[in-house]
Amino acid sequence: MPLAPQHLPRLALNGISYRYGEIPAVSALSLAIARGECVTLLGPSGSGKSTALAMAAGFLRPVSGDIRIDGRPIMRTPPHRRDIGVVFQDAQLLPHLTVAENVAFPLRMRNRGRAEREKAVREMLTLTRLAAYAARYPHELSGGQAQRVALARALVFAPRIVLLDEPFGALDRQLREEMQIELRALQRRLGVAMLHVTHDQDEAMVLSDRIAVIEDGSLRQIGTPAELYDTPADAFVARFLGENNRLPGRVESIDEDDMATVSLAGGARIEAQAMGVGPGHRCIVAVRPERIALAAVSAEEMGDGAFAAVLREVGFRGTHLRLVLDFAGQTLVVRRPAAAPMAGLHPGAEVAIAWQPHHARAFRPEAGE
Ligand SMILES: Nc1ncnc2c1ncn2[C@@H]1O[C@H](COP(=O)(O)OP(=O)(O)O)[C@@H](O)[C@H]1O
Ligand SMILES: [Mg+2]
Repeated sequence: MPLAPQHLPRLALNGISYRYGEIPAVSALSLAIARGECVTLLGPSGSGKSTALAMAAGFLRPVSGDIRIDGRPIMRTPPHRRDIGVVFQDAQLLPHLTVAENVAFPLRMRNRGRAEREKAVREMLTLTRLAAYAARYPHELSGGQAQRVALARALVFAPRIVLLDEPFGALDRQLREEMQIELRALQRRLGVAMLHVTHDQDEAMVLSDRIAVIEDGSLRQIGTPAELYDTPADAFVARFLGENNRLPGRVESIDEDDMATVSLAGGARIEAQAMGVGPGHRCIVAVRPERIALAAVSAEEMGDGAFAAVLREVGFRGTHLRLVLDFAGQTLVVRRPAAAPMAGLHPGAEVAIAWQPHHARAFRPEAGE
């Protein structure tokens, strides 16, 4: 039985691909965004994020695949009729129109009456905290204000979905963080679906219900920020989201619970969750810095499964300490709360470290590793 419209994804990208000449930019990308959901496409520069967004917006035509809004194919629908709001890194405001006129622009294009336009613009300017700037021209706005106008303009006609391509990329860090929180609150309040792209993992975490990690035009993993952070599916996702230790080694054996015994390059033997690796395979073991326990004692004193390491650097980071260690010929980073006792933790100190086996994941090395 076909799904009722309210259960269909608001936006569905079904195996869409794009090539610039012979060069593949996006390969068979599938992604579904529910009503009211914010999904971020996260990937490094050049991974195909903007190309994917441009296909959803209708600026580029996929070479294969299909795009639907509420179950309806829209590939033949031109951009301005897709009922999509779009925001780019550069606000792209019309310079000769005031803030209010810029925000009213999409309503004029849709032939909405004057009273309706004025009401919608007034409400949207209030929501985006721009009411005091209604009569200003774009050149009289700061970068953050201009981006809020672009956002208001993308939302004012109550589109089915809003697409944002690195919307805060040109703003300084503090303003970017404020705008992320503001946008998330606005998105929740309006209940609008959003597809947002960024290379900034922190921005992805703040803004998203789910994050889709993309590399070289292919989707690597999609899930909630916590799922991606705690249970990355491959070495790329483990490296790209948050800081991670990466210890090269070789899988010796795997037990029936998918727990691998790995000989690390430096000689130590550890247990780690097997992630698509088999006996004899080279692997990369990933362990988060905050999952590693550390004490200024010997490995014997710390107990079973503990290893000896030497502290090389103690970095103060405000909320936490970032400790860099030499561990069996590898560099290992450990993070601990700055408020935790520090006795004996100085460069050169011999320490013991340990972690729970299920917090370590053994991945296939990335291409070229
Ligand atoms: N107009 C273009 N002509 C040729 N290649 C392009 C063009 N735009 C993007 N590319 C290439 O396509 C790939 C994906 O680009 P893009 O979608 O802009 O990535 P992102 O937004 O993730 O940085 C990159 O390798 C890029 O160099
Ligand atoms: Mg881009």
